[in-house]
Order: sequence, then C-alpha cells, then structure tokens
Amino acid sequence: MEQYKIKGGRRIEGSIDACGSKNAALPILAASILTGEECLIERCPAISDVNKMKYIIESIGGRIKEEDGGLLVDSSFLGSTEVPRDLMQSMRSSVFMAGPLISRLGRAEIYRPGGCRIGMRPIDMHISVFEAFGAKIRSEDEKIVCEAPPGGLKGAEIKLPFPSVGATENAVCTAVLAEGSTVIRGAACEPEIEDLATFLKSCGAEIEGAGSSVIKIKGVKRLSGTRHKVISDRIEGGTLMLAAAVTRGSLFLRGGVFAHMESFLMALSLCGCSVTVYNDGIEVKAQNRLSSLEKLATAPHPGFPTDMQPQMMAALATADGESRIEENIFENRFGAAKELNKMGAHIEIYGKNAIIKGVRCLEGKDTEASDLRGGAALVIAALAAEGESNVGGIKHIERGYSGLDERLRSLGADIERT
Ligand code: UD1
Repeated sequence: MEQYKIKGGRRIEGSIDACGSKNAALPILAASILTGEECLIERCPAISDVNKMKYIIESIGGRIKEEDGGLLVDSSFLGSTEVPRDLMQSMRSSVFMAGPLISRLGRAEIYRPGGCRIGMRPIDMHISVFEAFGAKIRSEDEKIVCEAPPGGLKGAEIKLPFPSVGATENAVCTAVLAEGSTVIRGAACEPEIEDLATFLKSCGAEIEGAGSSVIKIKGVKRLSGTRHKVISDRIEGGTLMLAAAVTRGSLFLRGGVFAHMESFLMALSLCGCSVTVYNDGIEVKAQNRLSSLEKLATAPHPGFPTDMQPQMMAALATADGESRIEENIFENRFGAAKELNKMGAHIEIYGKNAIIKGVRCLEGKDTEASDLRGGAALVIAALAAEGESNVGGIKHIERGYSGLDERLRSLGADIERT
C-alpha cells in the first residue's frame, strides 16, 4: 500500500501555480455531455476523481482524449443512459451525470453515489429537483430510474431547503435545455457553480445570477461545443498555504483568487499569518507559532468551507491556546481527530464541535487517512511534527490532490511517496 513518508520540521516556502479545481472540473465534465459536440476542458487536475469521471462518460458512449493540455470530450454518440453501479459508487460526483443525462437523453439510471464517508450524504434534494422539472422517478431494486415526461422537461420554480452545491449544479444542468424558464432559489453560491455557469453560457445557455442565491435560466433548444478553462482550486491552494503556515514558512499561490478564498484567508490572518493579495496571486507568511481561534464555524460559501475544516483543525492542533471548530455541513467530518491525537494533539469531539487545545509540537507517527480532506490534514500535521511520519491510505488523498508529494517537495518538504 502506498504511503507518504514525511520528515517534519522543514519550512514550506516558495511560490507555486494554483492547479485547476476538482470541484469545478467534475460537474463541468459531466455537463459537457449536454452539448453533443466537442468540448475542450482545460486545466482539469490529474486526480483519480477526474479519471473516474472520464470512465463514467466513456461508459455511456462518450469519447475523451487529452488534447492541448485539456480533456476533449466528444459526446456526439451516447449509447447508454445508465451509469454503471461500480463507477457510480466510486465517488459522490457521479451524481452530476443524472441532470445532464435526463436533459440530453430523457432518462438517467443511477445508483446511490459513493464518496468520502463524512456524513449521510443523501440525494433527496437532487431527486426533488428532477421531479420539479416533471421527471418521473422510480426505484428498481438498487437502481434509481429518472425519466423525462413524453413532452420533455419543463422549466420549474425550485426552492432548495439547503444550498446544496450538487443539487444546485444538477438543477442548472437540467434547466438549460428544459422548455421555458427556471428560477432556483436558495441556490448554493460556491465559485464552482459560477464556473459551471460560465462553461454552459459559452455553450449557448442562458443563465443569470450563478454565484448568488437566486439563479434564473431560460431553456434553449440546443447547446454547442466550446473550450473552457477551469478555475483555480481554492481547497488545494488553501491546503498548501496551511502547510506553509504550520511550518512558519511562506507561500505565494500564483493564480489564487482572493474572492474565492476570503473567509479562509480571514481565518489565517486571525491566526497571525500575514496575507497579501497581488494581481496575480496571494502570499501567505507565518513568522510565529499560530494563534488559536476562539470559534471557527463552517458554512456554505462565502462562509468558511467545510473542505478546509480538517486541514485547519490540524493547523490549530499546534496553535497557541484553545480553539473551537463547529462543523455545520457534514455530520461526521472530524475523522482525522483520532489520528491527530495519536501524534500528540489534544482534540475532543462533542457532536458537531471540536475543542482543540494547542500543543507546542506534534510527534511523527504512522497514521491512516480515511477520507480526502482528513488525509490532507494528516499530511499538514506530519509536516509540522518532530520526527518521521508515514501517512497511509493516500488513495483517498489522491482523489483530490494531484502530485501533492511533488508539489510539497518543490516547496522544501521532505516527503516521499513509498
Ligand atoms: C460539494 C463538494 C464537496 C463539499 C460540499 C459542501 C463537489 C464535487 N463536492 O459536495 O467537496 O464538501 O459540496 O461544500 O463539488 N444534502 C442532503 N440532500 C441532498 C444533497 C445534500 O441532505 O440531496 C446535504 C449533505 O448531506 C450535506 C449538505 O447537504 O450535509 C451539503 O451537501 P452538498 O452541498 O450537496 O455537497 P456535495 O454537492 O455533495
């Protein structure tokens, strides 16, 4: 089993280019099948989740090849409406195929998606969205069959009970080809949704308000192929910034977008880091031990992102004083705490709160990642720790980080993939 062998205590310093966003690339790749023409998606990160999305699109008849540093998706001939069960269960983002499939082919056959075990993660909101457009949903054993009515999908008034990122993306993808107008209220405002809308608009879709809580869409008859460059990954960039912060280093993230990372950068500066925003990127410097945070609460964008919470918990484990983190998006996202405690951290979990008593130093230990961002948290802790750590379970980390070991090494870390 592969693992990262990390010798802690090396300062992370230097500059690095931001890479393309996983959470933007995945729904955009799925949405590219709406067009039936060639779409070149540039800056897709080289991660296993993107590979899985490639297999999913190929499994229904799409063709994908690497071209000009991007992925060229040709979905002119789609032969199947079913996403195979094993691929469906290989990641949560498989659910992004449902909206585009119902829209394009009038039918989607899916299974309950898999993904990181960080909470219950039901798909009830996605299903209600499809029903609002007139789709009929039925279960056949474990399969969920979603079918457009004979007259086709009709624009809808949708009010999401919670700003779910995935349900908003499926609603947008279903609305763009539905007949008439759609209004999505209570929509998620994440930058990745704006990027999906930018992509769809360049294909000819009519969308207003993406990135706000009310999105208005006028259905069009067809979409055409396009070329699109995915936005920077704010979570990967933030993870590298925290690696610099815990090692009293500095990082210039070229291509980092302040507006996408504001609440995270605010938290970093409250911890005592200096944050400077330039035209072409963001610089973070830490000269001293980090200060604790009285309370950090995750929230939908523009609040503090749940995807940065485990990494922040690892950083606060060595901060000066006691911190509290409240996790408001997923029910079970403190999985890394147990492994961090093995390294000498003092983290106690009470329901959706983590109380973190900062210690001066963590000790290198063998730990095991059990989910993507929790795994990244263990890497951050190992970089800060005294001595050597082996972080196992890196298949979880590699779902969302492309060449994390190489990128950290280029910034001065002593990390090897063994
Ligand atoms: C997306 C991101 C993920 C991030 C999350 C929250 C991608 C590929 N993944 O996941 O990295 O952590 O947003 O920012 O973009 N929920 C329901 N019913 C539903 C859908 C969601 O109850 O039908 C709940 C979830 O269980 C969770 C909350 O809503 O508690 C937020 O989930 P959601 O925003 O949908 O997350 P994802 O789209 O799965």
